[in-house]
Amino acid sequence: MAKLIPVAPFDLIIFGGAGDLAMRKLLPALFHRDRDGQIPPQSRIIATGRKAISRDAYLALVHTALAKSIGDTDADRAHWQQFAARLTYVELDARRPASWNELSGLLAEHTDRIRAIYLATPPDLFGPVAAGFRENALMLPDMRIVLEKPVGHDYASARDINDAVGACFPEQQIFRIDHYLGKETVQNLLALRFGNALFEPLWRREVVDHVQITVAEELGVGNRVGFYDDVGALRDMVQNHLMQLVCLVAMEPPASLDDDAVRDEKLKVLRSLRPMTTMDVRERTVRAQYRAGAIAGEAVPGYLDELGKPSDTETFVALKLDVENWRWSGVPFYLRTGKRLPVKHSEIVIQFKQVPHRVFDPASHDPIPNRLSILLQPDEGIKLRIMAKDPGPGGFNLRPVSLDLSFEQTFGVRYPDAYERLLIEVLRGNPALFMRRDEIETAWQWTDGILASWQDARQKMETYMAGSWGPTAAALLLDRDGRSWASEG
Ligand code: BG6
Repeated sequence: MAKLIPVAPFDLIIFGGAGDLAMRKLLPALFHRDRDGQIPPQSRIIATGRKAISRDAYLALVHTALAKSIGDTDADRAHWQQFAARLTYVELDARRPASWNELSGLLAEHTDRIRAIYLATPPDLFGPVAAGFRENALMLPDMRIVLEKPVGHDYASARDINDAVGACFPEQQIFRIDHYLGKETVQNLLALRFGNALFEPLWRREVVDHVQITVAEELGVGNRVGFYDDVGALRDMVQNHLMQLVCLVAMEPPASLDDDAVRDEKLKVLRSLRPMTTMDVRERTVRAQYRAGAIAGEAVPGYLDELGKPSDTETFVALKLDVENWRWSGVPFYLRTGKRLPVKHSEIVIQFKQVPHRVFDPASHDPIPNRLSILLQPDEGIKLRIMAKDPGPGGFNLRPVSLDLSFEQTFGVRYPDAYERLLIEVLRGNPALFMRRDEIETAWQWTDGILASWQDARQKMETYMAGSWGPTAAALLLDRDGRSWASEG
């Protein structure tokens, strides 16, 4: 692994510091970066929240949350003391001016180090927190503000939030997180496409039959059900994570990896998405909700049982989209994502076309087109399906074989969680892996069209059994085009 360079001393202020995201992702990520020596000792992690919690009680909460991340060795356990020394908890309600005093006092102690704010809160607080920093004279020239997704609920609310935060911080200092951009294999997609001469000439409509993106989750909505019911799978996953994957697959080679060079190319893809009419939405999208079922032999409840009331929120979406440009015209992109599918499995599939002419005996050769699979999780890797001759003298029989690259076996390292990388990028002040305002708003405009048509057309809510691969309608979406989802094959 490349040598890890420490970041400069910082104060990181986490709003929502006792919340789910902080406990599950942010603090474990910081713990790991600290253990690897990337966090200078004088740095502070200042968690804030509306609840009054003593520092000891907060440390106990963090320690419990980190239980899985802290290994069993003496060194790991010893490291907890060092990490805990960096943590402080401050009670703060961003909307009450008087409650900023304690934080202001703490920050005044160090005005010569990096100051970064992480908003792990609902988006309606993004504007008030940004304004609170300005009104309390807590701004430093090069500070950064991180906005956790979702940035808004639709295009209009995203624009309002961006305006409110933008009134206090210039765009280069606003880091909008999509944690998929910090995943190792997602970054490897750039390496695969632009670090190899091999694939780029094939990455186009003349050779590619279609693209599939699956982000399947085994988990249900769990204790996030209240939040999730206002959101649904299209807003929670498609508008951001899946759109970003579409962009990285479909974009033109950027001139460099500079932040704006990559983001400009992604934006062009978003602008090339063909808007869906109500008719398209009916024919090309599937929305569904899970019912009770079983996963890995365990019975699991349905979405409505978990929620405890009727709901029209989708937990699964499948859709077919078109990227209308010279490279991709006529190549469908099929996307699907859902909760309570049989396994956690995310994959991008580039399905190539059939060979143009058959030279082998049709009796001994069922031609199967090449397929490149980029496995995002849980086992990161790349597979290329090619046809090979069956060994031996029995004639010219072909069969598909797979060239497999498992990143874990090849590199033999623990892959850092996406948040580890992204937090370090924030502290270094590098926005390349974060979404620019125009990207987020363009993605919202496209998904808003689908949401509106779902309402206009009273789009049917399909159901699927927990533990299945979604409703039959999702299989039919491809079946009608003579295709099928790769991950179930
Ligand atoms: C989050 C969504 O952004 O991504 C969650 O809000 C989802 O609903 C999660 O479970 C999936 O992330 P990952 O990294 O587990 O694929």
